[in-house]
Amino acid sequence: MITRSRVFGTGMAVPDHIITNEYLSTIVDTSDEWIRTRTGMKERRQVRPDQAASDLAIPASQQALEEAGLSPQDLDMIIVATISPDTLFPSTACIIQDKIGARQIPAFDISAGCTGAIYAHTLADQLIRTGHSKYILIIGVELLTKITNWSDRSTCVLFGDGAGASVVGPSENGSSGLLGHHIASDGKGASMLYIPAGGSRMPASRETVDKNLHVLFMKGNEIYKTAISTMSESCHILLKQEGLTPQDVDLFVFHQANLRILEAVGKRLRVSPDRVFVNIHKYGNTSTATTMMAVHEAVQEGKIQRGSLVLQVAFGAGLTWGGLLWRW
Ligand code: UT7
Repeated sequence: MITRSRVFGTGMAVPDHIITNEYLSTIVDTSDEWIRTRTGMKERRQVRPDQAASDLAIPASQQALEEAGLSPQDLDMIIVATISPDTLFPSTACIIQDKIGARQIPAFDISAGCTGAIYAHTLADQLIRTGHSKYILIIGVELLTKITNWSDRSTCVLFGDGAGASVVGPSENGSSGLLGHHIASDGKGASMLYIPAGGSRMPASRETVDKNLHVLFMKGNEIYKTAISTMSESCHILLKQEGLTPQDVDLFVFHQANLRILEAVGKRLRVSPDRVFVNIHKYGNTSTATTMMAVHEAVQEGKIQRGSLVLQVAFGAGLTWGGLLWRW
């Protein structure tokens, strides 16, 4: 009987092109000072016009597989969390399945906004624990610069492109792996963060293009407050489930949406800032990719080691939120 899933390898990919705060201040009425002090962001990455989500997802996946010591043929499933897929259908996961040379395994996308990676790992954990699948490739990828309104200063300074990947499989011992998960949603907040057109409610038309309705709209202030309360809630629920306290956690990996949100959640939990991982200054908000890229970098930097207690928590469109408590 398998009791837990664990991460065997992680990977990430970001485009080379950097968008600086200084550049943004040449296209909208903003400044490096405003962006840095209000968000903690200094730069973010942008793909080329001809690139799609799978173009970042594939190198991130190959790195995760390599680190896991596995080949694409070993995979039993591919789950991609994204709200900026290559196409509305087929899924980006199917495109990746073909391009990396995996077998004819199940492959599908999930849409849970910035919480997508948390949802995907929760789902994968169930499938691994029941014995349905052995190795699952999970990718969180977002090309937010493709759905950004470049004339809206309240959103265009925030978002970037990136992909994070992990290969999960059965833990060989009962002590390491995913200790607990918590996922939740509240659709009453659906209009706080969304793209109005392009779906069946408002299909693409000349009018939707003229009105610029294929880009992301966000009520930043309302989201800000809810992000702090829901991410704190997920931490408390997960720690309580395991009889642990915030002081037991070696590293908190929060969704990188705003440095002030990370600091506020850390403060609520009464943990020192050095235990809250931050890479928002380099990549901005890459939605579902942020916590996966952060976990990958934290592993590379030695901030997550075998045995570390890690709390990975996110919040986003839906509204959705949730967390994963790992014994690495
Ligand atoms: O990942 C999905 C979840 N997303 C989030 O979690 C985002 C959460 N929200 C936030 O991070 C923040 O609310 C923002 C960064 C979006 C905005 O920061 P804020 O401190 O909440 O600013 P605000 O919206 O209250 O705006 C304050 C002022 C306004 O001007 P007035 O009305 O006071 O004159 C804005 O027009 O800042 C102005 N402003 C800007 N000024 C310069 C808004 N954006 C900018 C900008 N540059 N880029």
